[in-house]
Amino acid sequence: MDKFEAFEKYETYQYNDNSREARRNRPGPRKNKKDRRARQVMREISEMDDGINTWVPSYAKALDPRHHERQWVIESVGPFYRDQIVTDVTRLVKGGKEANVYTCIGHPASGMDLIAAKLYRPRMLRHLKNDAVYKAGRMLRDEEGKQMKGRRVKTALRKKTNFGKQVDIQWWIGNEYRTQTQLFKAGASVPKPIAHQGNTILMAYIGDEYGPAPTLSEVRLPQAEAEPLFQRVMDNVALMLENHLIHGDLSAYNILYWEGTIYLIDFPQMVEARHNPHAYELLERDITRVCEYFSSFGIECDPVALARGLWEPYMGPGG
Ligand SMILES: Nc1ncnc2c1ncn2[C@@H]1O[C@H](COP(=O)(O)OP(=O)(O)OP(=O)(O)O)[C@@H](O)[C@H]1O
Ligand SMILES: [Mg+2]
Repeated sequence: MDKFEAFEKYETYQYNDNSREARRNRPGPRKNKKDRRARQVMREISEMDDGINTWVPSYAKALDPRHHERQWVIESVGPFYRDQIVTDVTRLVKGGKEANVYTCIGHPASGMDLIAAKLYRPRMLRHLKNDAVYKAGRMLRDEEGKQMKGRRVKTALRKKTNFGKQVDIQWWIGNEYRTQTQLFKAGASVPKPIAHQGNTILMAYIGDEYGPAPTLSEVRLPQAEAEPLFQRVMDNVALMLENHLIHGDLSAYNILYWEGTIYLIDFPQMVEARHNPHAYELLERDITRVCEYFSSFGIECDPVALARGLWEPYMGPGG
C-alpha cells in the first residue's frame, strides 16, 4: 500500500458515515472496531514517513495532530520544502470537493514571496463531473505527458483497480499542470506554474499577504473595467483555441480578478479541440457563461455568434 492508497483508505474511515447522527446511532463494538482500524491506517501512514515529517508548516501546527488534513498538507507540500521552493504553508485559501488551495511562503531561491499550492484530494475521482465527456478523444498520458500504452493500463483504468485510480489521478493532475504551462508560455493570463509532484501543483499566488484575489463572481467590477476585461477574457479564449484547447469549465468562478486584470484558473477538465467530439459545445458553454456574467454590465454579447466566430479561423467551418 503506498501513501496515496493509505490516505484514500484513511479518508474512507474518517468520512464514511461519520456524521454526529451516524456516530450516535452506531453500535458500540462496531464503532470501536472502526476507530481501531482508522488508527491502524494512520500508523501505517506514519511508518511510511520519509523524513519530511519533521517539517511542520505553521498552518499544520494550528491543527489537531490527529486531524487528517495536517498529515496531508505535510506529506503533499513536504517535497517542495525539501527542494527549497517553499518555506511555509500559512493558510487555506479555499477548500473544494476536488482540491484545497493553500498559501505558501516562497523560499528565497524561488524568487517568489507567495506561492499557491493546489492539493488534490485522493478521493477526487468520485466527484469529477462528466469525466467521460472530457476524456473522450483524449489519449492516456503519464506524468511526463508521454502517451501510455499497454493492456495493463487500459484494463486497470476500465476496472478501476487501485493502480487504475492512481493512473487516473496522475493523469488528471499532470494534465492540469501541462496545460497551464503550455498556456502560460503562449502568453495566456494564467498564474505561472512553478512545480508539480504527486497530488500537488504549485503556481504563482494571485493576491497579497492579506488574502487571495477574489473570483469575478465575488467582486462588483467598476463599470468602466467591464468592457476591457470582457475583451481580455475573450482574447484568452481565442488564445486557447489557437493552441487547440478549450477550458471546459470557464465561468466567473474560475476567473480571478486582481489589480485591474484577470487570471484564468482551474484546468483539469481542459479539452483538446481537435479530438474531443464535445469540443464545440463546451466552447459555446464557456462563452455563454462568460457572457452571462458580463451582460449584467450592459455588455451585449451573442455566445453562439462568438463561438462560431472563434472556432472557424482556428478549426475550420462546422462545429
Ligand atoms: N493561483 C492562485 N492564487 C490565489 N488563489 C487561488 C489560486 N488558484 C486558486 N485559487 C483559489 O482557490 C479556489 C479553488 O481553486 P480551483 O478553482 O483551481 O480549484 P477547484 O478544486 O476547482 O475548486 P472549485 O471546486 O471551488 O472550483 C479558487 O476559486 C480561488 O479562490
Ligand atoms: Mg474552480
